[in-house]
Amino acid sequence: MINHQIKVAFDEYSSLQELDITDRELCLQAVKAMENSHSPYSKFSVGAALKLQSGKIILGSNQENVAYPSGLCAERVALFHWGANHPDDLIESMAVTAHTNEFKLLKPVTSCGSCLQVMAEYEKKQGKPIRVLLYCIDGPVWVINGIENLLPFLFFEDRLA
Ligand code: THU
Repeated sequence: MINHQIKVAFDEYSSLQELDITDRELCLQAVKAMENSHSPYSKFSVGAALKLQSGKIILGSNQENVAYPSGLCAERVALFHWGANHPDDLIESMAVTAHTNEFKLLKPVTSCGSCLQVMAEYEKKQGKPIRVLLYCIDGPVWVINGIENLLPFLFFEDRLA
């Protein structure tokens, strides 16, 4: 038996103020994206903002549905919009944030497995790592370089061969 250990890495910034202006603005765009969150069932808003190579920003927010599984997370709303409309304008960074009136969030919200798998797909497609900024309002920001640091056992196409 061999015990393998995998390390992932991320940078923690104690607050938004510690980030450079570009990253700070992207986090604030993720906050703006939450304005269009449709989350009457969970009462949990999530916002995502993609910064493309051209400088264009794409926003997404969670969109829930009375038929629960029909809804979609903020990250995938933004990513699928990118895939459908701007696939040649590479994604540099993606900021994600969340808010609820039900309790105070003390740490950044981490994306679900399905969103990570979609990030991994597009990262592979564009051939360039995506920086992910997980922003806790009034709290820390976690910066992750590349999806392998979020999903080390991600499902690769080569595994199909
Ligand atoms: N949600 C996201 O938008 N992104 C995630 O990565 C996790 C969860 C949404 C889905 C649902 O609308 C609400 O948060 C509560 O789970």
